Amino acid sequence: MQFGHFDDVRKEYVITTPKTPLPWINYLGSEDFFGLISNTAGGYAFYKDAKLLRITRYRYNNTPLDNGGRYYYIKDGETIWNPGWQPTQTELDEYTCRHGLGYTVITGKKNGLKAQMEAFVPVHDACEIHRITLTNESEAEKDVDLFSFIEFCLWNAQDDQTNFQRNFSTGEVEVIGSTIYHKTEYRERRNHFAVYSVNKEIEGFDTSRDAFIGQYNGFHDPEAVLEGKSRNSVAHGWAPIGSHHLKAQLAPGASESFVFVLGYCENPRDQKFVAPNVINKKPADELLAKYQTDAQVDAALDALHTYWENLLSTYSVKTADEKLNRLVNVWNQYQCMVTFNMSRSASYYESGMGRGMGFRDSCQDLLGFVHLIPERARERIIDIANTQFEDGSTYHQYQPLTKKGNADIGGGFNDDPLWLIAGTSAYIRETGDFSILDEPCAFDSDFSKAVPLMEHLRRSFGFTTKTRGPHNLPLIGRADWNDCLNLNCFSEEPGESFQTFGPSEGPVAESVFIAGMYVKYGNEYADLCEATGLTEEAADVRAKVAEMVDVIEDAGWDGEWFVRAYDAFSNPVGSKVCEEGQIFIEPQGMCVMAGVGLENGKAAQALKSVEERLDSKFGIVLLQPAYTKYHVELGEISSYPPGYKENAGIFCHNNPWIVCAETQLGHGDRAFEVFRKTCPVYLEEISEVHRTEPYVYCQMVAGKDAPTFGEGKNSWLTGTAAWTFTAISQYILGIQPTLSGLKVDPCIPASMDGFTLNRKYRGVEYKITVDNSAHAQKGVAEMYVNGNKIEGNVIPPVEGTTAEVKVIME
Ligand code: BGC
Ligand code: NOJ
Repeated sequence: MQFGHFDDVRKEYVITTPKTPLPWINYLGSEDFFGLISNTAGGYAFYKDAKLLRITRYRYNNTPLDNGGRYYYIKDGETIWNPGWQPTQTELDEYTCRHGLGYTVITGKKNGLKAQMEAFVPVHDACEIHRITLTNESEAEKDVDLFSFIEFCLWNAQDDQTNFQRNFSTGEVEVIGSTIYHKTEYRERRNHFAVYSVNKEIEGFDTSRDAFIGQYNGFHDPEAVLEGKSRNSVAHGWAPIGSHHLKAQLAPGASESFVFVLGYCENPRDQKFVAPNVINKKPADELLAKYQTDAQVDAALDALHTYWENLLSTYSVKTADEKLNRLVNVWNQYQCMVTFNMSRSASYYESGMGRGMGFRDSCQDLLGFVHLIPERARERIIDIANTQFEDGSTYHQYQPLTKKGNADIGGGFNDDPLWLIAGTSAYIRETGDFSILDEPCAFDSDFSKAVPLMEHLRRSFGFTTKTRGPHNLPLIGRADWNDCLNLNCFSEEPGESFQTFGPSEGPVAESVFIAGMYVKYGNEYADLCEATGLTEEAADVRAKVAEMVDVIEDAGWDGEWFVRAYDAFSNPVGSKVCEEGQIFIEPQGMCVMAGVGLENGKAAQALKSVEERLDSKFGIVLLQPAYTKYHVELGEISSYPPGYKENAGIFCHNNPWIVCAETQLGHGDRAFEVFRKTCPVYLEEISEVHRTEPYVYCQMVAGKDAPTFGEGKNSWLTGTAAWTFTAISQYILGIQPTLSGLKVDPCIPASMDGFTLNRKYRGVEYKITVDNSAHAQKGVAEMYVNGNKIEGNVIPPVEGTTAEVKVIME
């Protein structure tokens, strides 16, 4: 069953009922000001940091679901309704929600009145615009009341939800004309305030939630709206809100628009006030002046469209499969931008208060984003490196506002350091900008100790080189990529965090997955050494990598697949000798991607085992057989019911590793099959089963052991976005940035005749045509650049800013 459809021309997903299986959301903003908005206008906004500078309040896990947002109430006679159905839930005559690139348009119709809400964040401004357009489509004149409503958060989202004894007394606002200023804590240490304004004269306003809603009413029946009259309330403590009351008199056919701006403003500390406790409103005046007219809003929307057109023109493909085209050209890249911006901080499943920017997450998010805005990827790499410790180990996350590492969800995840090499290498392969390696980067944010980024990479590699266990495999520490494989934890008490309880280190527990990473990213590090003239170091790194390959093929090989790990007693995890959890997906993907066993058949055997033991209709599950009991020596992984999350769920993030691995073996048919299974656009028709948005990946789909097999969870913020974009763009379609240029090495289904692709790379726009009339799965027979046949399949430097590339597969 579908709840909408793709509009490929406008690059929108059009939702045709407000009652989607779960809220289907979109993200507004791409730089500093962000909003999450659902198809019923739920959600919240924040500036830079969802925990520390939350602008509007949101209650997670509420009932009914998705309660609270930007609500516009219309009172037309006795009927009160919202264009997005929530929260009044008045049945609409018509409803659509169009989620587009950085904007959302919700349109409702009731009793001959059409109300359209356009919501977006302008490209370089710190505000959300909501333009409400009312159109009288009836035969009679209409007199309608319009009420706006948002609920302010008292900035620190965590404190806001917990510290009521203080917070019920701190709220402060100012109201001048049509503008509401939220200034809680501004009198003391904050130098920022929020503003909520409309470009028309108002009938009244409210800033006290209790006055507007009434103590025992709800969002769905606020007293002020029921009575058609604002209270002009000024909040003192309790819950400050922003609400405007406007009137529209509409002749048949007439329209009127109202531009609301919800913004974030800052003042220099010494210019905060114009009078005792009266805000200096200069930054707000400047911001609001930009969005007073429809023409200004139209221009800002056009600028947003141009911004996205431009970004997406970096990579776009044309194949015979329109679903593939829409995923690659629009939605996957869009999600990569969102994951890059948010890491795992703010979604409908991440509260914005817990995890900040993940070290490993952000390094991986880069992989799918770096081609879009390389300068931002560069800055991010440096921010991440600045949090590393001197011995090469790392914090697991850092706070976006302060950019300082914190140990809130633990440290000592021993895969983290190597991901820094992955991100940096991707950046240089994209841009050719080796100067990043000379950038001074701090240790633990101490800039007096700054050393060039290259030294950070050296320490990343060096950390894994020396942090080894009895089989000479890397020690796993707290966990590796799989946060839930906690081999040193041994937690027996409910509520203990598996990520912070117990020692972060053990002398014995080892990870074959990290060993695979060491080979893959060790080689990428050696490439960087070679390219920068460090020949001896490169040779030394290659030798160490070769030793690790031997270790993997020995202690890391179980006979038919790669072992996952060794636990704190040196017993294997993910081996045929185990009762449960005999085979895991991660080492198969990572080791084969790293090239281990390609020559001696182990790689092929491992992938065959994956297909036989882990595959399912909806994707490859993380492990089999699922853990049915709690294993204290394994930790969180065995805490989930079978089929969910890391315990044999289809953890979408590592399915693309298998895709990449299959292409190493030239298996184009199988690579595409695996790619297709978790790909949301192909699941649109079964949205009632999949439940999450059909335009973005989710973190996890319930596995075959789960009662709800096929059900998606945790949409949007997942490394799946970056890795699938890497898999489809670089491994299947085969357009691979390398240090020496763009390589073309497709590995596609034999049935595919070929494709054409536009790729902007290092200042040149390449028009690439791949001809697969041979119906091969892999292999380039001939390649022509601007009509000239070239040797090999790496495009040599060209003159000018465009080039035609023709590739013939064999
Ligand atoms: C995992 C969760 C786990 C969490 C702990 C995540 O990476 O996916 O299952 O509960 O880490 O912080
Ligand atoms: C989600 C986390 O954000 C990521 O860092 C981790 O690798 C996966 N879960 C697997 O546990």
